[in-house]
Amino acid sequence: MSTTIIHNIKQLIGIQENTETPIQGQALANLPVLENAWLEMSEGKIKNYGTMATLSSEQLNKCEYVIDANGGMVGPAWCDSHTHLVFARSREEEFVMRLQGKSYEEIAAAGGGILNSAAVLRDTPEDELYESAARRLEEIIRMGTGAVEIKSGYGLTPESEWKMLRVIKRLKSTSPIPIKSTFLGAHAVHPDFKANPDAYVDHVIYDMLPKVVDEGLADYIDVFCDRGFFTPEQTNRILEAGNKVGLKAKIHANELDYSGGIQVGVNNKAISVDHLECTGEDEIAALKRGNTMPTLLPQTAFFLNIEYPPARKIIDAGLPVALASDYNPGSSPSGNMFFTVALACIHMKMLPEEAINAATINGAFAMELEKNFGSITKGKAANLWITEPISSYAFIPYSFGRAPLKHVIINGNTY
Ligand code: NIG
Ligand code: FE
Repeated sequence: MSTTIIHNIKQLIGIQENTETPIQGQALANLPVLENAWLEMSEGKIKNYGTMATLSSEQLNKCEYVIDANGGMVGPAWCDSHTHLVFARSREEEFVMRLQGKSYEEIAAAGGGILNSAAVLRDTPEDELYESAARRLEEIIRMGTGAVEIKSGYGLTPESEWKMLRVIKRLKSTSPIPIKSTFLGAHAVHPDFKANPDAYVDHVIYDMLPKVVDEGLADYIDVFCDRGFFTPEQTNRILEAGNKVGLKAKIHANELDYSGGIQVGVNNKAISVDHLECTGEDEIAALKRGNTMPTLLPQTAFFLNIEYPPARKIIDAGLPVALASDYNPGSSPSGNMFFTVALACIHMKMLPEEAINAATINGAFAMELEKNFGSITKGKAANLWITEPISSYAFIPYSFGRAPLKHVIINGNTY
């Protein structure tokens, strides 16, 4: 049986013996760590760990491979529960328009934004979409991501939505890390339905969804429930239709306004409600009523220059929080979870411990992967990162903008 031991680990981060429930409230500030540690992997899984004093030379000699962490930290690979990494091309011209004073919503209302991405994607061959998405997937794995969710939503026609979902399905079959797929036909109203958005909602439910289900193209269903996009009533119809055919919800809510999206998500037992820049007392009360994971995407607030979600209020209310990158060409053109974690600390006042828990085990919960990913737990997948030699884990958010990595381990192998 092939085994690998990582030794000379300064801190082994994110050890959880029991991951039955998400980490919430005050408990988020507790990041269990073992100082001066080793970790053994076998058959792609975490087999054992301990302090260096307990590692015999016999044990080291017996194992097939040895990795010297050389004073680096080892932690569970990031669980990025919200991305749109299948897209046809970047949108830096809109970025420049925003620098010149236009808002994200103005650009979207003028046919840019999601509609811009959709128009290009429709004419992009499936293989080309696959190739570019596979490169982005590789890029995020190299930055320490070990599980990811990917959405459709740049199709907005049945053919193009299915095309995107087939690309995600193909990525699933070739990817070394687990991928969850989300059907986001209701990302924006297709321009042909501009005069009658309810008819577009029908189109999503009756013309797109059945084949998504029949061909097993998605794990979840999503709606952009916000000002200028879909109303809570429209969102409710789509989520109910999804629930009926076994697709649980993970939705975009309250990015641009107090849209009612959080309440609709909780009422439909969504796995997660994501964004939450506009979250007040009513929204927090709604979250307290259910088991929906509040998922925050600070890179989007950073890139669009909007208010950050009130992470402190959410955590201090005793709720859990997950962090994700929102990697997409319009509002977050980066899948660097190290930067996500840094922004969560710098702009949302999350502690390093809270941010790391939120980007690992709680991210795993936000895509129902917590049984096998998101923590250092015996028997879980050996998807890990090994940092450069650094002085403490607080250096991770402190040294913002970088991914201070030496190695990424996926299924027990260096990637
Ligand atoms: O999560 N908010 C909606 N959807 C994406 C942005 C999509 C785009 O601009 O392309 C988001 O931010
Ligand atoms: Fe998004």
